[in-house]
Amino acid sequence: MSAIGVARPRVEGPDKVTGVARYAADVPMDDLAFGVAVLATVSRGRVRDIDASAVLDMPGVVGVLDHRNAPRLNPEALGFFGPDRQLQLLQDDVVPFSGRPVALVVAETLEQAQAAAAALPVTYQAEPHDTGFTAEHPARRPAVTFFDGPVDIGDVEAELAASAVVVEERYRTPEEHHSAMEPHAATAWWEDGRLEAIDSNQGPFIVAGVLSALFSMPLDRVRVRTEHIGGGFGSKGPCGPHLILAAIAAQRFGRPIRVTLSRTQVFLSTGMRPATDQQIRIGADADGRLRAIWHHAAFEISPLAEFIEGCTELTKTLYAAPAIRTSLSAVPLDILPPCSMRGPGTAPGSFALECAMDELAERLHIDPLELRLRNEPAVGPVSGLPFSSRNLVACLQEGARRFGWAGRDHQPRQQREGRLLIGTGLAATSFSAGAFASTASITAEPDGAYTVAVGAADLGTGARTALTAIAADALEVSTERIRLRISDSALGPAWGAGGSRGTTSWAWAISEAGARMREQGAGTVTVDTTELLGDLPSMERHAFSAVFAEVSVEPATGEVRVRRLLGMYAIGRVVNPLTARSQVIGGMIGGLSMALHEEGFRDRVTGRHVNADFAGYHIATHADVPDIEADFVPDHEPGIPMGIKGAGEIGNVGTAAAIANAVWHATGVRQRSLPLRLDRVLEESPGWAERRTGDGTPG
Ligand code: MOS
Repeated sequence: MSAIGVARPRVEGPDKVTGVARYAADVPMDDLAFGVAVLATVSRGRVRDIDASAVLDMPGVVGVLDHRNAPRLNPEALGFFGPDRQLQLLQDDVVPFSGRPVALVVAETLEQAQAAAAALPVTYQAEPHDTGFTAEHPARRPAVTFFDGPVDIGDVEAELAASAVVVEERYRTPEEHHSAMEPHAATAWWEDGRLEAIDSNQGPFIVAGVLSALFSMPLDRVRVRTEHIGGGFGSKGPCGPHLILAAIAAQRFGRPIRVTLSRTQVFLSTGMRPATDQQIRIGADADGRLRAIWHHAAFEISPLAEFIEGCTELTKTLYAAPAIRTSLSAVPLDILPPCSMRGPGTAPGSFALECAMDELAERLHIDPLELRLRNEPAVGPVSGLPFSSRNLVACLQEGARRFGWAGRDHQPRQQREGRLLIGTGLAATSFSAGAFASTASITAEPDGAYTVAVGAADLGTGARTALTAIAADALEVSTERIRLRISDSALGPAWGAGGSRGTTSWAWAISEAGARMREQGAGTVTVDTTELLGDLPSMERHAFSAVFAEVSVEPATGEVRVRRLLGMYAIGRVVNPLTARSQVIGGMIGGLSMALHEEGFRDRVTGRHVNADFAGYHIATHADVPDIEADFVPDHEPGIPMGIKGAGEIGNVGTAAAIANAVWHATGVRQRSLPLRLDRVLEESPGWAERRTGDGTPG
């Protein structure tokens, strides 16, 4: 019997609830010292002076590292998007953004290091900064796009001119922060010229590769382990500042150093989702058939490193249209460099696209569900390639049936409960599926068990549990005979837990190694999938989903409550229905949080973040989360072993648009900026009457 498809609780669950599971800051270690980072308080300029002598006599202080005494790093080390000066910590006196680490104070205890870091006198030569994002900023330029590049098919202008209805609107999403439960932490030490680290990250092999480049040493002399991780959401994909600081401090002071960022330091120094400003034009015939989609997105970046917020990805996938044009522009500012976050690009991009589709349905007087069904493409709308499997229609129809969409009055502002306005909305989504090269080794043990080793990371999503089932199926044995080893760069090249490609990438290597072990019968088998992946024929490979939301709006306060959320997902074969459901529900809560709460603010005068903690940066809490239903339609990815597509991020995508569309349906007012703050939704707020559409009368 297959272990895939069986709902099993997390294999590490008992360790987590009994406190046995150790995170990066928990691992006991002899001779450990603690480093606390000191972050720049100006948004651009230079460090004028750091007076280490003022703190060196404080209790327990071991030393202070800054650009004058830190070990030199290789300036050519690359990050994920290429040259990356974020990595060059404490290498010069330049302050490129507020929150950049300028020193590390090391002491015998965490408290001593915190006290000395707080007391360390740092003075700056401030320079004029620019942290104000607008799409029209004079520094804007085409984004570097090694994915989600610009497309232009058909004649967009002619099709828009020939359209019966054109929606032309602008949508904005703010800077957002990942907010993983576990703050970034690392312990690093040097031993016989080798660098070892225990770090909270999403891909130990990838992070080890960056360290090996930074310290100009062969990869086999760097080892990164990542036992348990309390969430990442993209922020632990890169080699983080905490780890680089721990590694250089361990080198300088010759002992293990632990660096744990405070919550505020996580906000200020580890990356965020950039603000976006998106313009959309969609033209359609009177019967709802799309003629053109034009989607341009601008987002903010840092000059320290390239980054792509691929907002237009879904625009090339979801709907058939004879003309599609997309482009991305980047605006370099003196800000924290952005990094991937929970459906990078697709989450803000789907907010724009799926709200615009809802506006089109409104103007055409068509059911928004029907509008999607009428524009279902036979092949990739831009690529012309076939879909490997496409089950969006099944998601929409089954979701509509369960949600009770039939009979919805598509006019806004028709439903009340006392003072509350009630509305419903939906959004369709997709998320690209694929795999990256990974290595897996399987050893047949004398007792009949198999040790299965793969450099995977489990962010708390259930990767261990899923990979145990995958290995059991690959070896055609029960899960009890699988001893899984993950979380270690020494296990060989492997993709990380990112891009919704962790399970597909690791499963590919495990399934191939399992097949070879079944032939070989004994010993050890090691497989690297680099060449196997190259054989995958070009196709449109995506997971799909449909999200439905019901909201209530209190017109006098602007308070939006999400009352129901339902998501139907086509994510390929579901490895573990229990953890997969939990994962997409987590994603939907992330989308709800994005819709209603999340917004990073920078002060226009100082350029500094003003809400870098959970008192000021709001995320959804239990009280915000309604009854959520998530389920899967039958789906199968033919190109990837075991038929898997990936569940990591699609749960996050589409939810914000479904909620915003429901708020329009409740109120008759379009909300085109996230989050749906009280002051935006509040009736009789400035501009409210102008934003109002629909036939209802003001309450
Ligand atoms: Mo994810 S945002 O690809 O870690």
